Amino acid sequence: MEIIILPTPADVARTAADAIEDQVRSGPSVVGLATGSTPLGTYQELIERHRTGGLSFAQAQAFLLDEYVGLPTDHPQSYHSVIRAEFTDSVDFAAGAVHGLDGMAANPAAEALRYDASIEAAGGVDIQILGIGTDGHIGFNEPMSSLVSRTRIKTLTQQTRVDNARFFETPEQVPDHVLTQGLGTISQARHLLLLGLGEAKADAVAAAVEGPVAAICPASALQLHPHVTVLVDEAAASKLLHKEYYQYAFDRKPAWQGL
Ligand code: GLP
Repeated sequence: MEIIILPTPADVARTAADAIEDQVRSGPSVVGLATGSTPLGTYQELIERHRTGGLSFAQAQAFLLDEYVGLPTDHPQSYHSVIRAEFTDSVDFAAGAVHGLDGMAANPAAEALRYDASIEAAGGVDIQILGIGTDGHIGFNEPMSSLVSRTRIKTLTQQTRVDNARFFETPEQVPDHVLTQGLGTISQARHLLLLGLGEAKADAVAAAVEGPVAAICPASALQLHPHVTVLVDEAAASKLLHKEYYQYAFDRKPAWQGL
């Protein structure tokens, strides 16, 4: 796990965009996309590079991490709609290249199996963007999610519903249930990029990076993955015990190494 502490959210966005750009420019790629506020700067940066820097997603495919159960695809807060509005409609993915879970599926268990199979059929995810919830969730894998879980239905914690209420007209509109890639599914991506911004994420980042590997903090599962880059701003890094060492190691990073 490489922990990179950067001065501002804009630096985090640029560095995350660098990693995605390198992957996408290397050839046909599968990119894992997260919703939520944290990756928005990264998406803005990628849109800008598409508009002005010739970055093309025409050969890429994308898979979303999760979806609310009970929201139709065209609901403004479905993750299908959110990712289109925030990113994919502003770049040049081919028609049908952005994949998500169907929150209206009559059989959510079958939908989950279909989704894992479609990720596999695409060759697996090359690079996965992840945000982190205040309770340490990634995707919508709430505390006590199996560390090897596959895509499935989950019940949101009240805390996550409160955290996400800002996107809805009333807190009661936040669905109880979601479909989410499991921790085992996410861990099959070849490179994981965990982004954390702001003081509110400091405890979750510290638990994920320096705490024990334990289902109480789902993001701690990333400690078992061979290629994880954690990109955090100063505020999100503020509770890390070994901050100085991470900075020291980053300052001495071999130029050839990349992320
Ligand atoms: C949401 C999403 C996650 C996201 C997390 C943090 O509920 N399902 O994918 O990473 O919670 O959201 P935000 O980036 O808005 O803080």
